[in-house]
Amino acid sequence: MKLRQPFVAVIGAGQVGATTAQRLLEKGIADVLLFDVVEGMPQGKALDLMEAAPIEGHDRRVTGTNRYEDLRGAEIVVVTAGLPRKPGMTREDLLTMNAKIIREVCLNVKAQAPDSKLIIVTNPLDLMTHLAQKVTGFPHERVFGMAGVLDAARMRYFIAERLEVTPKDVEAVVLGGHGDLMVPVSSHSKVSGCPVRDRIPASEMAKIEQRTRDGGAEIVALLKTGSAFYAPASSVAEMVDAILKDRKKALPLCAFVKGAYGLDGVYFGVPAQLGRQGVEKVVEIPLDEAEKKAMALSANKVKQGIEELERLLAVSA
Ligand code: APR
Repeated sequence: MKLRQPFVAVIGAGQVGATTAQRLLEKGIADVLLFDVVEGMPQGKALDLMEAAPIEGHDRRVTGTNRYEDLRGAEIVVVTAGLPRKPGMTREDLLTMNAKIIREVCLNVKAQAPDSKLIIVTNPLDLMTHLAQKVTGFPHERVFGMAGVLDAARMRYFIAERLEVTPKDVEAVVLGGHGDLMVPVSSHSKVSGCPVRDRIPASEMAKIEQRTRDGGAEIVALLKTGSAFYAPASSVAEMVDAILKDRKKALPLCAFVKGAYGLDGVYFGVPAQLGRQGVEKVVEIPLDEAEKKAMALSANKVKQGIEELERLLAVSA
């Protein structure tokens, strides 16, 4: 079936990509083009998803493809293509290999969907988002990464679990790079409008913050093969919905930050307003001294990562 405008292209039809397609369809958010380099796989998953439509009761459409030309007309391109780390592979090997994949994907996105907005999901997230913008040359407001929504959702769940309340009533903000030095901002966490710090002792909050930082690793350790995909897919769907519905919704995401938070032009996790144009505004929230220090440390780590990425790319070029 022919896709209708506006449609979302999802590059990489693996765990995160296919589940993102499922969320977008079943929540009625958009039609989806599912792309992968593996022949038949995106087509098979698309057909399977469409066969669920009569039961799920949605009227969205999805098609699968191995041809980049089919990206023409996509309003949003979600990039989940990448390799997971395998035994014996160093972090540098993974960085170089995923950088090659992102470069190849982004050159094709630039050629086929030059007006699209790009949501990067492939890890290491901040570095791959930086690279995607460099390769496409798209304005910064049209290239951003998914991480903060996921990290905040994890923190919200951990707080809800501790207080035995519905996760929907919990607000949390997680800023900074998507890695060990991310910054869970407990001073802004609330449950039904009340500061969480009034309900959970500091020592326990510190444990929740650490569990949030380790959220991805906790799932990897349990799954043994592969990494999280249900919550990442939900996070992408929330971002896509904010863009397509022009919600002007402030969500934590990996945006290009110049000026705010004392940063001088780096992709970093901050709250940002999402609308039909992409990232329309970086929102600066007040932070306490410890949080400011943690942000500076996290930003330094991202900058070091970018230097390492550029060195590896220069060597492999
Ligand atoms: N172009 C398009 N797709 C590609 C390419 C490429 N050059 N190279 C690999 N792929 C596809 C693979 O064929 C696979 O189907 O990317 C997909 C990745 O899927 P999974 O291995 O299931 O990985 P997934 O769990 O979805 O994670 C994808 O998201 O959260 C991040 O850290 C995670 O970087 C990883 C990414």
